[in-house]
Amino acid sequence: MIIAVPKEIMEGENRVAIVPDVVSKLIKKGFEVRVEKNAGLKAGFPDEKYLNAGAKIINDVEELYQNANIVLKVQRPIIHPAKGKHELELIGKGKLLISFFYSLHYPDVAKKAADLGVDVISMDAIPRTTLAQRMDALSSQANIAGYKSVILAANYLHKIFPMMMTAAGTISPAKVVIMGAGVAGLSALGTAKRLGAVVEVSDVRPQVKEEVQSLGGKFIEVPTDESMQDASGYAKEQSEEFLRKQKELIFKHITEADIVITTALIPGKKAPILVTEEMVKNMRPGSVILDMAVEFGGNCELSEKGKVVEKYNVTIIGEPNLPSLVPYHASEMYARNLLNLIDYSSKDGNFIHNMDDEIIGGATIVKDGKVVHEKTKALLQN
Ligand code: NAI
Repeated sequence: MIIAVPKEIMEGENRVAIVPDVVSKLIKKGFEVRVEKNAGLKAGFPDEKYLNAGAKIINDVEELYQNANIVLKVQRPIIHPAKGKHELELIGKGKLLISFFYSLHYPDVAKKAADLGVDVISMDAIPRTTLAQRMDALSSQANIAGYKSVILAANYLHKIFPMMMTAAGTISPAKVVIMGAGVAGLSALGTAKRLGAVVEVSDVRPQVKEEVQSLGGKFIEVPTDESMQDASGYAKEQSEEFLRKQKELIFKHITEADIVITTALIPGKKAPILVTEEMVKNMRPGSVILDMAVEFGGNCELSEKGKVVEKYNVTIIGEPNLPSLVPYHASEMYARNLLNLIDYSSKDGNFIHNMDDEIIGGATIVKDGKVVHEKTKALLQN
């Protein structure tokens, strides 16, 4: 089968779906790999490296898609700015697209893929099971994003992180508060600790307390009777009452923090507001908020997607694509997730789209002209 890898077209996207090292592995498995000219340049992988790994470089994206069987991308399909057509139209009938798709947020795009006859496997729908861990691109990218969130926020802070006892006096360590102890939050915790900060973490799932403590964080617990986790281990949507209690408790911690990193998300829903305008007003001057959930509505009332704003002497960072700011390693990890997925379900250079398989079937959004992903289907029926 022929695998095609285009240059990403979403604004601000520097990653590429496949890196040269993975090209040679796919070729060994019997695939042919075609890569659009300059596809990896922004991530630090020039065409020459792809050529050396055995890929063909194709100048034009329409030509790239022409005979392809599988298209590997990072970002969900959008209108191609240079071609004036939707990427799904360019990809065309009978092809399989594997990329992030976020069909619960963009169900209409899933419908469009079905109408155009493009099959879709979505990397954000890979089940979070032990077997699927090697393919879990949400986690690999959130790990990198968590790291970068701390580095970026630290850069805006007027203080240093570690405690310093010097002849010129003692400096106390920076205080970091992290809301949400998922993959991104735990990675941010590890990074902030390594830089020497004191870190407090809050999550609605009491199950994560031990993980937070084992990484050296203090856990801020919100007492509740509600069961906060669904069957697949994700947080459930919380009641108004719970969010009110949480805000009261968090208020003190946030207003004493130097940096607040928010990572709270309920899959398929708008992110819960955890940091209100009132809290921001009461924060220390010069402190920094980094809202990682900004893409899906934001956890801070004042954050703006794609912008760094200053409100009440607090810097609020709304960077929606942190992994793209470290594109080399983010691409490397994403490419390995894709390789593991393809390897898991292929034989002699042919990908087997087995809908009975828990991982492949579970991550399939569209197959043979139909939206098959249950939750996406339900959204389209409403
Ligand atoms: P995850 O699903 O593993 O973790 C989210 C955590 O938030 C869970 O532990 C959940 O229990 C917690 N949570 C939910 N409601 C909460 C509340 N009211 N208070 C405290 N905690 C709450 O997700 P992951 O992979 O860690 O990603 C976290 C967020 O970061 C998501 O919004 C994701 O979209 C975003 N993200 C943003 C990136 C960027 O570049 N800006 C990159 C990667 C992830």
